[in-house]
Amino acid sequence: MKKIIDLLEEKISKAFEESGYDSKYAGVTISNRPDLCEYQCNGSMPAAKQYKKAPFEIASSVVEKLTDKTVFKEINVVNPGFINIILHEGFVSEYVNSMKDEPDRGMDKSEEKLKIIIDYGGANIAKPLHVGHLRSAIIGESIKRICKFMGHDVIGDVHLGDWGLQMGLIITELKERQPKLPYFDENFEGEYPQEAPFTIGELEEIYPAANAKSKTDETFKDAARVATYELQSGRRGYFALWRHILNVSVADLKVNYDNLDVHFEEWKKESDAQPYIPEMVEYMKREGYTRVSDGALVVDVKEETDNKEIPPCMIIKSDGATLYNTTDLATIVERKKLFDPNHIIYVVDKRQGLYFEQIFRCAKKTKLVDDKTRFTFIGFGTMNGKDGKPFKTRDGGVMRLEDLITSINEAVYNKIMENRVETEEEARRVAEIVGLSALKYGDLSNQATKDYVFDIDRFTSFEGNTGPYILYTIVRIKSILEKYKERFPESAAKAADILPAEQIQEKNLMLELLKYNEVIESAYEELAPHRLCAYVFDLANAFNKFYHETNILAQEDIERQMSYVRLIVLVKEILEQCINLLGFEAPDRM
Ligand code: ARG
Repeated sequence: MKKIIDLLEEKISKAFEESGYDSKYAGVTISNRPDLCEYQCNGSMPAAKQYKKAPFEIASSVVEKLTDKTVFKEINVVNPGFINIILHEGFVSEYVNSMKDEPDRGMDKSEEKLKIIIDYGGANIAKPLHVGHLRSAIIGESIKRICKFMGHDVIGDVHLGDWGLQMGLIITELKERQPKLPYFDENFEGEYPQEAPFTIGELEEIYPAANAKSKTDETFKDAARVATYELQSGRRGYFALWRHILNVSVADLKVNYDNLDVHFEEWKKESDAQPYIPEMVEYMKREGYTRVSDGALVVDVKEETDNKEIPPCMIIKSDGATLYNTTDLATIVERKKLFDPNHIIYVVDKRQGLYFEQIFRCAKKTKLVDDKTRFTFIGFGTMNGKDGKPFKTRDGGVMRLEDLITSINEAVYNKIMENRVETEEEARRVAEIVGLSALKYGDLSNQATKDYVFDIDRFTSFEGNTGPYILYTIVRIKSILEKYKERFPESAAKAADILPAEQIQEKNLMLELLKYNEVIESAYEELAPHRLCAYVFDLANAFNKFYHETNILAQEDIERQMSYVRLIVLVKEILEQCINLLGFEAPDRM
């Protein structure tokens, strides 16, 4: 089954050719004037230049050839040469019927199964997850689901930050608080305790304390640097301590990501790439890619066509230490070795854009990967508070993700209790499902690169362009279907086809369904979940308009009623498919 635009283009191409014009002008788009037509072809204007004729004349001769009334209910030329198309209801319903019967619904799943790695999440261990990491998790998860849905082999890797100065800071702070622990005794030769000397709660308090101290206390900071260095050089006690930090932290992160319905295939971390560093650096030197600049080892990555300054990519600092760059490059080496990916996608704060540009260029230039390997950086903007400044807690601290989720769920819970009397427990459960949709949709409905304002009232509203509105629409369909089954068990058991639409809202709803396969493909090509959000919003609106005009359950014509039901089943399935790709789901009631 083909996409609708392709089908129309085929027919129009033929008409262009038959009229003696190149078929490359036969491109069809969804109309940007839905009040005038449903689809349009604007190719006569550029064709007019080539053929030195009036666009109107070209369009008219093309339209003359398009006589199939079972496809084109109306096809008109309007000045200066637009071809406006209104489809026949029968053609539309036939297409919708084939969508309902076909698992891929006319989507072109990629022929070549690509191996794609998505680097997202990017939490740093021992630091509480904050809203900055939230965007990466939400956007990355959706992109991952979209890529998988297109038929690719996709690996989501959380790429934890576990190797920087934060480790030295925590170790140094712990040493001050509990100097008697065996981890600090250089002569200790026994087995270290199995149990961590801190809970996650303590750990989360230790890091900010240590970080604050390092800002004012130079000696402390130096000690932390030394500790980081010693850990990285394999000091036994520190390594054991690092393991504890990692384990405690990862257990907590797993709970947090699970609550977000975000799941990683790989829980790899910066430290996993360290073993690849020495050989990689040796290789880069040997092949002559590096040079020494102010004592540091760098690779030049600027290109002649650059119109902005791209500084060299530093591999080793002048004091011999490796850095974030070195780790990311070594991670590429590791990924190449373990997974041999065709494409690596990084979902990270857009402020790291220049950094990743350097990394990608360096990896290509030094041939860590071949020319065909694709790198994509998806840089996201900041989540701001209503004051337009980066989102903070009321007292100005960094908002913890857990607290953020709690406040959203609370807002949704209050709304649910306002509307109806549910049991408290049920309302809490539903509030969690709906709250997640509010959070994710609020984020994903914006183009990722843009900053956006986090507005709990707006995001949790059951009306407007929000997650809860989409869920509400699905729940509404579910409830109609349930009632239908109860009242008309016999018809409900029968298979039915969708009949040609009789009324405009019914046709408009079908026209929205026609866009589905196209939208999924473009969301994949552009790696843009916001396209899906825009689509589910349009589809939900089209459904609600239809619903307000049509009393499905009171419909007396049984065939027509069955057709309505089949239509809304398809609407529900497609809405559910789309929100699944966005990373949330609908409850049965709300
Ligand atoms: N941990 C980093 C941070 O918090 C994000 C990691 C992004 N991924 C990467 N491969 N560098 O900023």
